[in-house]
Amino acid sequence: MADGEWWRHGVLYQVYPRSFADSDGDGVGDLRGITARLGHLADLGVDGVWLSPFYPSPGVDFGYDVSDHTAVDPLLGTLADADALLAEAHRLGLRVLVDLVPNHTSDQHPWFLASRSSRDDPKRDWYVWADPAPGGGPPNNWISSFPAVGPAWTLDAATGQYYGHAFTPQQPDLNWWNPEVRDAMDGVLRFWLDRGVDGFRIDVAHRLGKDRDLADNPPELAGARKYAWHPTLRQRNLNTAEGHAILRRFRRVVDAAGPGRVLLGEAVVTRPEELARYLEPGELHLAFDFAFTYAPWDAAAVRAAVEATAAALPPGGWPTLTLSNHDIARIVSRLGRAQARTAAVLLLTLRGTPVLYYGDELGMADVEVPPELARDPDGRDPQRTPMRWSPGPGAGFTTGTPWLPVGDGADGVDVASQAADPRSMLALHRRLLALRRATPALQRGSYRPVDAPDGVYAYLREDGADRILVALGFTARSADVAVPEGAMLLLSSDPDRAGGPLPALRLGAHEGVVVRLPS
Ligand code: NOJ
Repeated sequence: MADGEWWRHGVLYQVYPRSFADSDGDGVGDLRGITARLGHLADLGVDGVWLSPFYPSPGVDFGYDVSDHTAVDPLLGTLADADALLAEAHRLGLRVLVDLVPNHTSDQHPWFLASRSSRDDPKRDWYVWADPAPGGGPPNNWISSFPAVGPAWTLDAATGQYYGHAFTPQQPDLNWWNPEVRDAMDGVLRFWLDRGVDGFRIDVAHRLGKDRDLADNPPELAGARKYAWHPTLRQRNLNTAEGHAILRRFRRVVDAAGPGRVLLGEAVVTRPEELARYLEPGELHLAFDFAFTYAPWDAAAVRAAVEATAAALPPGGWPTLTLSNHDIARIVSRLGRAQARTAAVLLLTLRGTPVLYYGDELGMADVEVPPELARDPDGRDPQRTPMRWSPGPGAGFTTGTPWLPVGDGADGVDVASQAADPRSMLALHRRLLALRRATPALQRGSYRPVDAPDGVYAYLREDGADRILVALGFTARSADVAVPEGAMLLLSSDPDRAGGPLPALRLGAHEGVVVRLPS
């Protein structure tokens, strides 16, 4: 585990702990379940795992409302289970990133209970409190990220002030201008670093700083669904200079813990230059490129997103690529089954660090969750349903009643059904990951686009004599792509196409290929 730069050439895999594996039959996934299934990640060929929050949480936002940052939710296990998970992951050569949720806590966190208890409490200033506007009502026009919530403010009747919350009212925002808050969060980072974690995924890294004067956002944004997606206007509660300063502080804490510890930010921004600022030296190692994630499934649009980010990155900056997570509809449901196979080739051959979301390696689709079983305040249950390990009622996830439906088991979308099937989505992922691991050009090589017919995205990845051509069909049309003499097909997303010498290349519908070129 000596490689301090593992995060550049490695591949990460996101686990949503409540939905991965349930060891005790209560229907909710837990840490022991994850530990028992780490072999799947090692077999798949990833390098590290990011665990969404497993801390004590009332569950309003399923772990993203943390009531104790340095413990494990009893529903999910104990600190000893966390230690065992870390030890087993490291034994298998897997790094572990835990989720750091620094923007807000649960309203049940002892810090907030103290803070709201009285205006004179020593922790009052740990959260964002403000008097009502002069005529009454919320202090400014900021809105929550969850459209159903509305204003980002809730009145605390007992003390007569509003508190700010970027998400639900049960997730009050911490006041990052308060030095005690900064010290407390440093302590959280150190706690997990001391236990051996290899880094953190930082929740809403773009939200940490807020203008101190709590001024209104530009009125043009008043009706916007999500401030974060406005392309140009400066927003007073997002992407602030102070927020960047806080992240650089986190960076000093992880650097002090030794090499190989990594910060991966969830910075939801629209412009590549904004993303690039998070990757300046001394700030984050990695930050998700959401412009890539949300690009329409179109050859030109995906290429434009990739290249805009690459062009904006500071020296040493490195892309982080994902096509789904617990907040976004599943790839198969957004793009289609054949397209999802091509998407896997794209994700695992581009320049940058790919992050897979559990179940995508099987082609899991969104599962319809009937209203009476819905859990999430923002409608994200369909993409958070339990991992499918085997056919049958509990999908091998639980022996009890799963907390979210496991979906229809008849379609072969489970690990057991796919493991021995060379045509499966799982087999495709294993082959892609093995190929990436064995191919320096794919892990760390340069990127250069090559001319291709409409609807095809093609690029070269090169590392010295190691030269790889990737060609991806984004449409149902077939297309001829030029290949030099001596090309060898290494892999196709089409299970019916065998590898070998490739004198000419006609891409089939929605086909993606990886080709070795002569050096
Ligand atoms: C981003 C997380 O990914 C999402 O699931 C959560 O609801 C919000 N941050 C609030 O923590």
